[in-house]
Amino acid sequence: MKEKDKIIILTGGSRGIGHATSKKFWDDGWTVITFSRSEVAPKCPWSNNKQFHFQVDLEDEISLNKKLRDLSEFLNGRPVKALINNAAISPKDKKNERLSFNDTSLELWRKVFNVNFFAPIIISKAIVNNLKSANGMIINVTSIASDNVHQFAGPAYATSKAALKSLTREMASDLAKDNIRVNAIAPGEIETSMVTPSSKKLLTEKIPMKRFGTPDEVAGVILSMCSETFSYVNGTEIQINGGQTV
Ligand SMILES: NC(=O)c1ccc[n+]([C@@H]2O[C@H](COP(=O)([O-])OP(=O)(O)OC[C@H]3O[C@@H](n4cnc5c(N)ncnc54)[C@H](OP(=O)(O)O)[C@@H]3O)[C@@H](O)[C@H]2O)c1
Repeated sequence: MKEKDKIIILTGGSRGIGHATSKKFWDDGWTVITFSRSEVAPKCPWSNNKQFHFQVDLEDEISLNKKLRDLSEFLNGRPVKALINNAAISPKDKKNERLSFNDTSLELWRKVFNVNFFAPIIISKAIVNNLKSANGMIINVTSIASDNVHQFAGPAYATSKAALKSLTREMASDLAKDNIRVNAIAPGEIETSMVTPSSKKLLTEKIPMKRFGTPDEVAGVILSMCSETFSYVNGTEIQINGGQTV
């Protein structure tokens, strides 16, 4: 791949898995265009390249559409190899534990779906032609909570991730004719700010590898998925969980 064609768009690049992914791709010679609410993160690889960062709250559809118009001007029709829909929220209760069905207001449920599910659709639609001209791909970041009740992730988060997983299948089927592949990664327990101290203690024992994954380990899988090795992989979800679901 020529250097000029190595462009990805990544949501939630300011910390955690997204930040590690941003760094991994910059180190590999890619241009990384990021979206998040924060302006720039400390020690961020793109801190000197603010023109590649779009500061936006993905929950707010009007602001997002405005930023997407700015992005379109910035890209000026350039091909984009990959869109990584990584940003998400997982609200907890007052004790920083799992928010139950009864304690999840409809308002909060909608907020979670706006960030975790509708923003990926809105962004994908906005850049579909850029992806098409690059034979590109979309990688949706789902979760181990898409398939099973999780001790620390509540139902709004889990259902948004299950919806994103289904969306991956539907998009893979519909966009293949445009030479766009769509896959998902489902992380298990990864050491980021999404993890609470009590979850770390309880869940480590349940993982055959007896440890949490690192954001860098997830970033490495995403980078590999953007290589030619994955050219016939479409419509699937890759589990990154140290064997937690075996
Ligand atoms: N960590 C885990 O164990 C785990 C497990 C399964 C799945 N995942 C998935 O992996 C992905 C990354 O998770 P993480 O653990 O790295 O999370 P994190 O550390 O909480 O980071 C979340 C990222 O999303 C961005 N974000 C959140 N709300 C946003 C909004 N309204 N608008 C724009 N950006 C927003 C944040 O940036 P700002 O705050 O600057 O906006 C941040 O960059 C998520 O999809 C998550 O569901 C994580």
